[in-house]
Amino acid sequence: MNISHKSVLITGANRGIGRALLDEALRRGAKKVYAGTRGALQHADERVTPLTLDVTNGSQIQRAVDEVDTLDILINNAGIAIYDDLSNLDVLEQTFAVNFLGLLKVTNAFLPLLKRSKGHRYEPRLQHTESLD
Ligand SMILES: NC(=O)c1ccc[n+]([C@@H]2O[C@H](COP(=O)([O-])OP(=O)(O)OC[C@H]3O[C@@H](n4cnc5c(N)ncnc54)[C@H](OP(=O)(O)O)[C@@H]3O)[C@@H](O)[C@H]2O)c1
Repeated sequence: MNISHKSVLITGANRGIGRALLDEALRRGAKKVYAGTRGALQHADERVTPLTLDVTNGSQIQRAVDEVDTLDILINNAGIAIYDDLSNLDVLEQTFAVNFLGLLKVTNAFLPLLKRSKGHRYEPRLQHTESLD
């Protein structure tokens, strides 16, 4: 995927695959990378804009939308994998809240910005790394 000069938002960008995607986006010449994280994030590259973003928190999602000017690529990476025998409903609820509903809420919230990006310059992209396993 060519992401040079594009703006990208990655959820769960502080560690794991999300952090690797953040670094790769910068390496590939992204214009701006919005790094969604639950905790504080500092990054030396001035193209990185940290966003406080718990994907289960509606007001944080709205605040993040308000802070983003343009968006070409949304990477729904934030997720949890709690290994359990699935008899525990709390675990199932938590997993769905983050990996399914969280993804849906973030996608819906940023869809208008992604559509606007299509009108301007690019074919907007949505990428999910999450799994419900
Ligand atoms: N690793 C694999 O083999 C594999 C395979 C298939 C799919 N995946 C999916 O790929 C994604 C990344 O995997 P990973 O291995 O990098 O996982 P990871 O190291 O556990 O990192 C998960 C990331 O998601 C964030 N996160 C968790 N709950 C969140 C929430 N409610 N709101 C916002 N961020 C939240 C975490 O933030 P905190 O630091 O604040 O907890 C962290 O940044 C996950 O969605 C996972 O399900 C991974």
